[in-house]
Amino acid sequence: MLEQSIAKAKILVADDVEAYRELLKDLLEEAGFEVVCAVDGAQALEVMRKEPIDLALLDVMMPRRTGFSVCRTIKSDPKTCLTPVVLVTGLDNLDDRIQGIECGADDFLSKPTNKQELLARTRSLLKLKKFTDELENAATVLTSLALSVEAKDPYTEGHCARLSKYSVALAKKLARPKEEQEALRIGGILHDIGKVAVPEQILLKPGPLTPQERKIMEEHPVKGEYICSPLKSIKLVLPIIRHHHEKLDGSGYPDGLKGDQIPLTARILTTVDVYDALSTDRPYRKALSTKDAFALIREEVKRGWWEGHLIDEFEKILMRKDNRSVSGRESASRIEGVAI
Ligand SMILES: [Fe+2]
Repeated sequence: MLEQSIAKAKILVADDVEAYRELLKDLLEEAGFEVVCAVDGAQALEVMRKEPIDLALLDVMMPRRTGFSVCRTIKSDPKTCLTPVVLVTGLDNLDDRIQGIECGADDFLSKPTNKQELLARTRSLLKLKKFTDELENAATVLTSLALSVEAKDPYTEGHCARLSKYSVALAKKLARPKEEQEALRIGGILHDIGKVAVPEQILLKPGPLTPQERKIMEEHPVKGEYICSPLKSIKLVLPIIRHHHEKLDGSGYPDGLKGDQIPLTARILTTVDVYDALSTDRPYRKALSTKDAFALIREEVKRGWWEGHLIDEFEKILMRKDNRSVSGRESASRIEGVAI
């Protein structure tokens, strides 16, 4: 099954030497792969932008951008960063290999190329790519599930997308590592996925919840963590999902964690979540202006619920473009312009 699926793979061969390019093309086509050729680095990138490529074989020395430069661009673009790149370099050229590793290359092939080695490396990388694609598909299913939960409630429209963007912006402002920023980007989307297990009559109830209903509602962080836990690639997102309703004084749920016991990524998301809830319309009240929302949040900081420093930094992000007092919907659209 797997062999069949990788046999249909589309491979980019980029080399300015026609004879070598044709040789690789013939060998790969003979093995059943589809091959697209590029005569230099710039054309290789053009192909990568236009077509879904499963593997790129790049000569190191090419006109109009070297293989290193093309590899670096492929690996820095979120749309292509998971595509395996093989650099074709002179036999035993250690400097090229070190530079290639620094550019993110997945493997190397020597010139002249041995047919068996070419096909073995190609198949092995394509198998890895196939597994990565399957993981990506699983993540897409989870995202769709999270968005379908959000879609049940007309009052929370766009909430996940805003949380994702705002949280990344705040993490960036706090100079948090890239992996935490990425966890928050995904966490913003997935944080309430556990609400899929909450009955609609509770989820959409306009009035106050009974103690029994509240108990069911408050299970959603644990259920969300359980739903996402099989996906190893989002391990850093799990604490965000589980702890996004904790409060600094320990009065939150599900674990009643206090202060620094709550992971910082969860505290960042909570900061944004609290603001978003106040600055958008709810069945029981209209959206508060940014000024009123922050005034209320600061009262809650005094009660020991939220972290004043995080609230201040988040307010600075919202106020970066101007200091007008605006409603939640306006500021939500304004954040779209924040470079994140
Ligand atoms: Fe939640």
